Amino acid sequence: MAIRLGDIAPDFTAETTQGPISFHEWLGNSWGVLFSHPKDFTPVCTTELGYVAAIKPEFDRRDVKVVGLSVDPVDSHVKWEGDIAETQGTAVNFPMIGDPDRRVSNLYDMIHPNASDTLTVRSVFVIGPDKKVKLSLTYPASTGRNFDEILRVIDSLQLTAKHKVATPANWKDGQDVIIGASVTDEDARKLFPQGWKTVKPYLRVIPQPK
Ligand code: BEZ
Repeated sequence: MAIRLGDIAPDFTAETTQGPISFHEWLGNSWGVLFSHPKDFTPVCTTELGYVAAIKPEFDRRDVKVVGLSVDPVDSHVKWEGDIAETQGTAVNFPMIGDPDRRVSNLYDMIHPNASDTLTVRSVFVIGPDKKVKLSLTYPASTGRNFDEILRVIDSLQLTAKHKVATPANWKDGQDVIIGASVTDEDARKLFPQGWKTVKPYLRVIPQPK
């Protein structure tokens, strides 16, 4: 069954390049990103894994654990890691799940038979400390993902989990935000005593809360 926003991210145990993990236990109280790639030793995937390794400190800074997955076995991932380090300039510094029996891929609906019977699509799941799915996206094999966008979404998710605000189109950390649509003006006066700019009664803008 499809995994929807707000669902508990299914728990599983799996072999990874950094040893066995029990997913929920491994996440602990952190945020998590679980992402699949179609196949080891392929060009787009090589660039993606190298880029995620290069920006791993940005995930760490946000207390986000990152784990990759494909239907290739762990020993294949380990061999491929050499190529990624050599060609992308950063060694893979996060675990990669080997899923040859497709247990996790099927659990997360990462194989889309009308795209490919055998390969995982490029799925991303962002999971909150409450183990609920906060974001999911799916890209085809031919299109590498924008992992800076994943960081941007995480900034929004973490901000809006803390404050009753929402973030506008193309928002980046530090820019103005919108008072949540469900917040009445009366409540907004208490929550944001510094006031706000009313563009429309339903579009109230404030500086990003700290
Ligand atoms: C790639 O990463 O380039 C790729 C992977 C699987 C199918 C097609 C392309």
